[in-house]
Amino acid sequence: MPMIEAVRVTKALHLGKSTIHALRGVDLTIDRGEMVAIVGPSGSGKSTLLGILGGLDKPTSGTIRIDGVDVTHLNEDQLTELRNEKIGFIFQFFNLIPTLTALENVALPMQFAKRRVSNPNKRAKELLNIFGLSDRLNHRPFELSGGQQQRVAIARALANNPPILLADEPTGNLDQESGATVIQALKDIHHNAQTTIIIVTHDTNLSNLANRVFHLVDGQILENITPIT
Ligand SMILES: Nc1ncnc2c1ncn2[C@@H]1O[C@H](COP(=O)(O)OP(=O)(O)OP(=O)(O)O)[C@@H](O)[C@H]1O
Ligand SMILES: [Mg+2]
Repeated sequence: MPMIEAVRVTKALHLGKSTIHALRGVDLTIDRGEMVAIVGPSGSGKSTLLGILGGLDKPTSGTIRIDGVDVTHLNEDQLTELRNEKIGFIFQFFNLIPTLTALENVALPMQFAKRRVSNPNKRAKELLNIFGLSDRLNHRPFELSGGQQQRVAIARALANNPPILLADEPTGNLDQESGATVIQALKDIHHNAQTTIIIVTHDTNLSNLANRVFHLVDGQILENITPIT
């Protein structure tokens, strides 16, 4: 059974009187433990697709199955539970909570989990330690560099040990060196935890790691390139 399946997914967005067809029938099947990249021009629908695959948004038509379950018709509570249990998100602009420390940001998703972690702070510390941030536990986001913030965000995304990790331009706002640490972190997660990872990226250093690369153009998947390994 594939981990993620999209069948004829469309998304129409309404802006005033005009309708934008952000996704025009996307079919996608991603296996357990795969790392795939989605690339394509600005406005081609990459973020829209990622949001729909992760249950942040609903398609206009079509079906999404996560781990064999049709999630298209879940209500808000069920979607929240799905996101909390199954999916970690990493965003281009980190999206950390500015008033919370690194440790608190990472511990937060654990407080909402159905399967409660016995000691969220301990696990948060361990995760931050893995990403080289053990000396930044009590820093707030504005006291951290971009690369450090993104590593906190990755630690947070992993808090509930999700089988799926979705990342939207995770190196998009980082310099080369910070980007390299984030790429290494994603590589390690893929190797160590067999997490299924989907990354939207313009960064070839990142898309080169993927098992498959999907090209999204004007709301449609163009081709499906399997790199020679
Ligand atoms: N909330 C919205 N309301 C109306 N149109 C939207 C909305 N969000 C996105 N769009 C439109 O949908 C299309 C796809 O947007 P999307 O953000 O998915 O593109 P993208 O591939 O992620 O681009 P980028 O590489 O610039 O991040 C674009 O034409 C965009 O203008
Ligand atoms: Mg985008």
